[in-house]
Amino acid sequence: MSKPILQENDIDLQPILDRRVVIVGYGNQGRPHALNLRDSGVSVKIGVRPESQKRTVALQDGFEALPLPEALTWADVVMLALPDEVMGSVYPQRLAPYLSAGKALGFVHGLVIHEQWLKPNADLDVFMVAPKAQGLGVRNKYVAGGGVPGLYAVHQNATGKAQAIALAYAKAIGCARVGVMETTFAEEAICDLFSEQAVLCGGLTGLIKAAFDTLVERGFSPEVAYFECLYEVKLIADLLHERGITGMRQGISSTALYGDISQGERVIDAHVRETMRQVLDDIVAGRFSQAMQTEFAQGKPRIQQALLQDEQHLIERTHRDLRARLKF
Ligand SMILES: NC(=O)c1ccc[n+]([C@@H]2O[C@H](COP(=O)([O-])OP(=O)(O)OC[C@H]3O[C@@H](n4cnc5c(N)ncnc54)[C@H](OP(=O)(O)O)[C@@H]3O)[C@@H](O)[C@H]2O)c1
Repeated sequence: MSKPILQENDIDLQPILDRRVVIVGYGNQGRPHALNLRDSGVSVKIGVRPESQKRTVALQDGFEALPLPEALTWADVVMLALPDEVMGSVYPQRLAPYLSAGKALGFVHGLVIHEQWLKPNADLDVFMVAPKAQGLGVRNKYVAGGGVPGLYAVHQNATGKAQAIALAYAKAIGCARVGVMETTFAEEAICDLFSEQAVLCGGLTGLIKAAFDTLVERGFSPEVAYFECLYEVKLIADLLHERGITGMRQGISSTALYGDISQGERVIDAHVRETMRQVLDDIVAGRFSQAMQTEFAQGKPRIQQALLQDEQHLIERTHRDLRARLKF
């Protein structure tokens, strides 16, 4: 049976209008959430650490940006929009003492709760609202009168109101204009990590670089290889986003279509599918998040090395060169 989808008329906004909301972390997600909530009539303040770099931005946006103790004491609902890797260490001293019984603690992503990097006080409501977009999309779509789809979940329901708060929050940031679906912290965390690794980030950049390298190794020019393997990805991604795979195939040439159906399975073959299963196994068993924690604890050496290396990759040098010389 397919999951029910809730939209504007199915959700009561009042539970979030009746509560004071604090957003902790004014970055990619925190800022759009705060702006959308305020535009929906919600009472919002921003909670910042003493060394905050985003405090000025919050003030310029017209928000009160308070130290965490003051902000959390004022709040009924606290949305944690911090980087996932810092939440576990920030929570015990900087957040938990000010989260009295009956308050609601929100997350934008399920990972921290799923992996138990943070164990919320048992007397709190704990919910997740995960808009399916980067922060910029959450704000831009809202301002244009639309929204992005959202997933919600309840992890703890101390007051019996957690679901009503989560749904009202999702509606206030614009998700119900499109549709809101229920999930669990575990499902959202695992599927989100897997899609980032297999498709959206790791899979896609790996596919693009490998295809570009293959053409250049055979003597084709980096400029033409760049256009074919990277530049045009957006055009196909837009078609896929709007029309799905069948609709995308209706929008490409018959030559491209024959290449797609005859060679796609050759590239993404049984070996790649088996590797994907192993990637998923590592996520489910917690091995990926353990490795990530170790990497972060060591000061992100592997990330820094990969970024430096890819910045100098020929495809990136070609991108910078063409961007500077062409009008796109
Ligand atoms: N990036 C996305 O679009 C996206 C998409 C889907 C889900 N999410 C989820 O949204 C949540 C927030 O991610 P994000 O990308 O929005 O975070 P972010 O922009 O990287 O960081 C948010 C803010 O957290 C504060 N911060 C950083 N380190 C801190 C620390 N050690 N202690 C206290 N505050 C700290 C910083 O503000 P100050 O310097 O002002 O303190 C920073 O601006 C995560 O759960 C993430 O998985 C993000």
